[in-house]
Amino acid sequence: MTQKILLTGGLGYIGSHTYVELIAAGYDVVIVDNLSNSKLSVCDRLAKITGQETSFIQADILDRSALSQIFAKDAFDAVIHFAGLKAVGESVEKPLDYMQVNVTGLVNILQEMQTANVNALVFSSSATVYDVSNVSPLKEGMPTGYTNPYGYTKLVCEQILAQATHANPELKTGILRYFNPAGAHSSGLIGEDPRDIPNNLMPYISRVASGEYEFVRIWGDDYPTPDGTGVRDYIHVDDLATGHVSSLHALLDKGESHLVNLGRGQGYSVMDVLNAYSRACGRELPHQILPRRAGDIAQMYADVEQAKQVLGFEVCRDMDAMCATSWNWINTGAKDG
Ligand code: NAD
Ligand code: UD1
Repeated sequence: MTQKILLTGGLGYIGSHTYVELIAAGYDVVIVDNLSNSKLSVCDRLAKITGQETSFIQADILDRSALSQIFAKDAFDAVIHFAGLKAVGESVEKPLDYMQVNVTGLVNILQEMQTANVNALVFSSSATVYDVSNVSPLKEGMPTGYTNPYGYTKLVCEQILAQATHANPELKTGILRYFNPAGAHSSGLIGEDPRDIPNNLMPYISRVASGEYEFVRIWGDDYPTPDGTGVRDYIHVDDLATGHVSSLHALLDKGESHLVNLGRGQGYSVMDVLNAYSRACGRELPHQILPRRAGDIAQMYADVEQAKQVLGFEVCRDMDAMCATSWNWINTGAKDG
């Protein structure tokens, strides 16, 4: 029988790409989103990509009665929980909002799952939970820590999940520590479209490519890295999406909880990303070197062995593919949505 999955935050950047992969893998999927950081038009775009109507409920994960109704109406086999707030800077300004949405939101979902006897959850965690003193490649067993309220909420959520599974051995969880998601769907119909000035590198570069901003601000070129600029582990959002399908397989077919990194296992510098984007958009993008950004570290990339062993997960797309699909999205799909 077709398995039914609830996708919270499914109209957002990672959720929408994961939806496409889940439909392709034969799952029946219901999306719940409050549209606080996404647009209703994504539903139509998902329908265009998948060739089937998108099942969407507009609701807030903080609204318990709406959640109860959602869990009462359908018998879900699993939940993939993307809904949350994710801007590091904003979390410093509004820490309580981050605790409420990210932490209380997760507790609400877990309690509703318990009532409805749903025992599989995939959770969006982040590489930000690794202590900054760790040396890459980062392995899942390394010490954790946080430097801002956003990171704190992700760490607390991981700990809540550990305690919930300890108390209820029936509950199986897939905790996925994303590295730096980038790129867009090959159709150009869905992608990342931040409402404010982007803090992250790839969306900022894309706006320089589109002419919205004049130049890329490179936060420091004096790091102990090959070219002096910061090194990160960028992973194509479609690869990340397939990681969620693998996680579901492990939970539903094998009954195995897991905590894994989802990255490429390879670092790219800011200059690498800028050069790849310049190739993708066909012109050399201007940049200026500025002082280091507070709180940044020199380099960070994943050890991907655990994801390979436990989930059979391997990436297929490189930096050129991330930049080409991002540019295709910015240059076409993002304009008329
Ligand atoms: P996103 O903002 O694009 O998607 C999140 C979605 O959740 C949005 O559509 C938003 O409208 C919805 N949402 C927010 N609050 C909600 C609420 N209270 N009720 C219902 N829906 C709500 O973000 P994303 O980049 O797709 O990230 C998804 C998850 O992955 C988040 O939990 C984020 O913290 C985590 N994550 C993201 C990154 C990244 O770089 N994008 C990295 C690591 C982890
Ligand atoms: C940031 C968040 C992290 C989150 C991750 C999600 C901070 C401090 N950390 O990490 O919590 O999990 O995004 O993807 O915000 N850079 C520039 N110019 C820019 C933007 C970035 O040079 O305009 C550089 C940065 O210094 C860094 C690299 O590009 O070396 C990547 O930055 P970014 O995309 O913000 O990601 P992270 O710093 O890894």
